[in-house]
Amino acid sequence: MTDSGSKLKTFKFLKIITSSLLLTVLILFTLASIRTFTLDVNVGLQLAQWEKTNNVSLVIDHHQREELLANFKEAIRIPTVSFSETEGNTTALREFDTLLRKAFPTVFSSSLVHHELVANYSHLFWVQGSNPDLVPYLLLAHIDVVPASESDGWEAPPFSAKEIDGFIYGRGTIDDKSPVMGILQSLEYLLIKGYAPRRGFYIGLGHDEEVGGYKGAVSIVRLMKQRNVQLSFVMDEGLAILDGVISGLDGPAALIGISEKGSATVKLSVSMAPGHSSMPPRETSIGILAAAVKRLEENPMPRLFGHGPERGTFEHLAHKFKLPMKFIMSNFWLFSPLLGRVLEKKSDTNAFVRTTTAVTIFKSGVKVNVIPSLAEAYVNLRIHSAQTLQEVLDLIQSTVGDERVKMELVDGFDPLPVSSSDEKSFGFQIIKKTVLDMFPSVTVAPGICIGNTDSRHFKDLTNDIYRFAPIWFKPGDAQRFHGINERISKKNYEELVVFYFNLIQNCDIQKLPEPHSSVHEL
Ligand SMILES: *[C@@H]1O[C@H](CO)[C@@H](O)[C@H](O)[C@H]1NC(C)=O
Ligand SMILES: *[C@@H]1O[C@H](CO)[C@@H](O)[C@H](O)[C@H]1NC(C)=O
Ligand SMILES: *[C@@H]1O[C@H](CO)[C@@H](O)[C@H](O)[C@H]1NC(C)=O
Ligand SMILES: [Zn+2]
Repeated sequence: MTDSGSKLKTFKFLKIITSSLLLTVLILFTLASIRTFTLDVNVGLQLAQWEKTNNVSLVIDHHQREELLANFKEAIRIPTVSFSETEGNTTALREFDTLLRKAFPTVFSSSLVHHELVANYSHLFWVQGSNPDLVPYLLLAHIDVVPASESDGWEAPPFSAKEIDGFIYGRGTIDDKSPVMGILQSLEYLLIKGYAPRRGFYIGLGHDEEVGGYKGAVSIVRLMKQRNVQLSFVMDEGLAILDGVISGLDGPAALIGISEKGSATVKLSVSMAPGHSSMPPRETSIGILAAAVKRLEENPMPRLFGHGPERGTFEHLAHKFKLPMKFIMSNFWLFSPLLGRVLEKKSDTNAFVRTTTAVTIFKSGVKVNVIPSLAEAYVNLRIHSAQTLQEVLDLIQSTVGDERVKMELVDGFDPLPVSSSDEKSFGFQIIKKTVLDMFPSVTVAPGICIGNTDSRHFKDLTNDIYRFAPIWFKPGDAQRFHGINERISKKNYEELVVFYFNLIQNCDIQKLPEPHSSVHEL
């Protein structure tokens, strides 16, 4: 995932529902009913009988365990670092290509699989299905990583893949080499066991996701568009299984990202006649720009909590909370403004409430006795699902409210469309079933990604993009993302291989079984 820090840890947002909120809720609870309160929206619906498609089973034996871990460790040891949009480690990317061919010989020699290099270092695999009427899907992952230095305080060197207490340490163990290797390892085992898919699928591996994916993912998309490919769904990295991270929730939650926030980088500048500091004008370019920036900080973007997909997260998880949180979550129509006010108090949870505004660069002046003519500031905004890029730009303009401040959009894009997550949603239900078959105690819910992924480039090829891998996150683990001591347990990596092994087979169903859902009223 690109540009983390603000990522999964944001899901601890439920932690900070304060006692004052609970008090308000209890008062409301005792009020006569303005309308029927729902106690338990059981959106965790049950689908009827699924067509049996997982005909090939995988029980990982000792030999396979050694083999899949050795392959994974080798992948971690290759420093496929993206330093900037123009600078990656091409030697490492070539080495990675060689590793894939060595580790997965059946994938590269099977007559069912067509492989091609895209933009020299990215990979696109097409696995042919026996029924061409079934719309194919795409599994997406990326092979590049963000930089890491041992001197930052790693317990093991970041490209060592060293084992400590059952965990493999190294940059990329979570983001994103476990899906890269897990997907291909599962395909290798499927093909060895003679599996031939009914529904064809693609595997895309980008090589510059961490710097925007403008070479890898964008080239893969261009190629697929030329070939008129349409996809049933795309599954990429993003969210995970949160275990003990959401306080008050009974059991772990698998959040499947159904959208991503948008983004904008805006340059503000003020240009004035230069002058000598002995005869300063009443206002300088620095003063004018500083005032504009201050206004932006003092007037945050509107509170929109409950108007985006975060609503669905609450509704899906509601039945797993105890009272009174269960009551709050189930009656979002009433409590979302209140929740919004509580959540905006902390910077990590504020990200769910609104479009965030961050002033990241402020530049002016070169000499102590010269009044500079030019002052520049860059503002980075992450756009809430219920707003558009244009609305955000208009708001900045009116908040700045000073014609002397010039505004320029450096780059930006709208929030990603919200993918379906209902009972008719093929991709969502397949992922959900695969999770529940493996981990019955987990609650599956839609979620929203604060960061961005390569999958955003695929929105013209499909309506449904899901961002998820079954990586277990416990409290504190989110900081490892792009941080120090990134790691995955050996057991969890093995689970990833099994997960993709099952997911691919689950996609072979012709159509989803008929749903029947239930809502209990209080
Ligand atoms: C799995 O096996 C069953 C029973 O032999 C068969 O009817 C079905 O078509 C198979 N499914 C796939 C996806 O091969
Ligand atoms: C690039 O990758 C090569 C091959 O893996 C490695 O030897 C080299 O140290 C890396 N360069 C940088 C600058 O990280
Ligand atoms: C791929 O490599 C060739 C030859 O080294 C180079 O000319 C070309 O620009 C590269 N393409 C990309 C997309 O990096
Ligand atoms: Zn990533």
